[in-house]
Amino acid sequence: MTTIDIDALLDDPESRVIVCCGSGGVGKTTTAAALALRAAERGRQTVVLTIDPARRLAQALGLRELGNHPKQVQVEGFEPKGELWAMMLDMRRTFDDMVRVHAGPERAEQLLQNPFYQTISTSFSGTQEYMAMEKLGQLAATGEWDLIIVDTPPSRSALDFLDAPTRLSSALDGRMIRLLTAPAKAGGWGLRKVVNAGFSMFAKAVSTIIGGQLLTDASAFMQAFDSMFGGFRERARKTAELLRSSGTSFLVVAAPEPDALREASYFVERLSAESMPLAGLIANRTHPVLAKLSGAEALAAAESVQSAPLAEAVLRLHADRVDLAAREERLLARFTRAHPEVALAKVPALAGDVHDLDGLRDIGVKLAG
Ligand SMILES: Nc1ncnc2c1ncn2[C@@H]1O[C@H](COP(=O)(O)OP(=O)(O)OP(=O)(O)O)[C@@H](O)[C@H]1O
Ligand SMILES: [Mg+2]
Repeated sequence: MTTIDIDALLDDPESRVIVCCGSGGVGKTTTAAALALRAAERGRQTVVLTIDPARRLAQALGLRELGNHPKQVQVEGFEPKGELWAMMLDMRRTFDDMVRVHAGPERAEQLLQNPFYQTISTSFSGTQEYMAMEKLGQLAATGEWDLIIVDTPPSRSALDFLDAPTRLSSALDGRMIRLLTAPAKAGGWGLRKVVNAGFSMFAKAVSTIIGGQLLTDASAFMQAFDSMFGGFRERARKTAELLRSSGTSFLVVAAPEPDALREASYFVERLSAESMPLAGLIANRTHPVLAKLSGAEALAAAESVQSAPLAEAVLRLHADRVDLAAREERLLARFTRAHPEVALAKVPALAGDVHDLDGLRDIGVKLAG
């Protein structure tokens, strides 16, 4: 098993973008923020693009509202050698900005006022992922930061992040427009097709907005949108290119549990199939054993101290921890056997949530091993 050299990754001037991905709730946002703080403290001009951070973490980063532009984080009692900037993705504003930049003032207003756009377009499945990539592209284009750390949206599968642009672009491409504008089909078959194609909120919206008007707005929006972008697919391809460029690395975050590691396996294979550079797997919230005592020794000792209930309880707890640690080690060893080329970093579960800079710094230390 090789260990990820996190500090080498953070220090390497060639390293420009680090994407933290993984399935829901595994610690992507925490890892991204911790890496960014560490990179800044090691001297890099760093920006972290977070997505839906927990409120307390956002506050710790000085993010009280969705600004959609990075703000410099004031690190109290510590002068970072580099700089730490942070932002929360505002999906809607990113979409709006994209429309403004590409449509020209008059057409942009028309698009932004379109009721379909206002109610539905940001609920296409894949929009959040796409807008995260769009924002990454914008941040990279400014050249203001030498390291951009990207969090990815909460989703069931880590693969969603890579699939989203294609999914969104097929939702917004010409075929969809033809479907929507084919009057005979719009009410029945066509509508069902639209739902399948990725309107996660469509059913709800149809019940709140008059269906016919919605379809008219939708097709107007899509026609304008399509001519504006000259093919949404092309843009999706460009963002994918950025992710494939040599300065980008992916870190897959996973819990040391069977489902999460299976998911991580798929993701690792997919990255390699797409020639996207993987820096390694972060096993987050592991349960290493702190004392040397083996499980069997702890249980034997517990038997002998039954007159001291507290000591017995502690020893039994220790025996459980030994079991858990051994199970996690086995799971990680199995992952490494299947993917010997993938480097690993382990981050133990901290006692509480990670919601302040000290917590992030602590995670950073653990990440660096
Ligand atoms: N090593 C750790 N020790 C203790 N708590 C942790 C650790 N890593 C993450 N957490 C906590 O777990 C929770 C989920 O973490 P986080 O928000 O980073 O996950 P996520 O993958 O971004 O989730 P989502 O998919 O919902 O975006 C947070 O409350 C965070 O503070
Ligand atoms: Mg998150």
